[in-house]
Amino acid sequence: MEILLDTVNFEEIEEMADVKWVKGVTTNPTFFKRQGINNIHEFVDKYFAITQQDLHLELMNEEDEKYFEKSSYTIIAKVPFSKQGVALLSYYKSKGIEVNMHLVYSVNQALLAAKAGAKYICVLMGRFDDTGQDAFTVLTKMKQAYNNFDIETKIMAASVRHPLHVEQAALIGLDAITIPYSVINKMYDHPLTERGITDFEADNCSTKLYE
Ligand code: E4P
Repeated sequence: MEILLDTVNFEEIEEMADVKWVKGVTTNPTFFKRQGINNIHEFVDKYFAITQQDLHLELMNEEDEKYFEKSSYTIIAKVPFSKQGVALLSYYKSKGIEVNMHLVYSVNQALLAAKAGAKYICVLMGRFDDTGQDAFTVLTKMKQAYNNFDIETKIMAASVRHPLHVEQAALIGLDAITIPYSVINKMYDHPLTERGITDFEADNCSTKLYE
């Protein structure tokens, strides 16, 4: 399962820049607004000066399209799902731009995005659960539908709110997940691990023993 970092915060991006198991970073317009980032091109230049991990970025206008085409790094265009979005996806593919179809919430939407050639579909688990529905169930169905036809489009879980979402994505066998920095840090934790380390330290046991 590919693991990506869900952020536009440069402190977080820098900390994870050399971590081998981080495949890339996902962004969205709301993240940029919250961080007060207005110039996306400056963001992209600064990003690739720090890391060469993949960048998933919403295309906002035609200028962006030219920028994406000439990039020597991997920039995946995020396109929100809609009838127009699916048509745009085919157009971007013809220009050699790979697409992550964003805001996919049903098996039918997942099939249409795959038919149009999406490299990824992005399913927002937290936002789905917020509606009182179950992201785990719909993602399981999407995975089954893709398996039935050997569809190569990758299913990415997003809007990850806690480590249980990560566990669920892994159990379904999703291809990718984008995780906020805070949730990645929580994945290290288990009370029994902490208790064990405390006990070993009390017994004068150095961690060097395990090197
Ligand atoms: C990522 O690509 C999504 O846009 C992001 O995970 C959304 O997260 P949120 O639902 O917490 O805003």
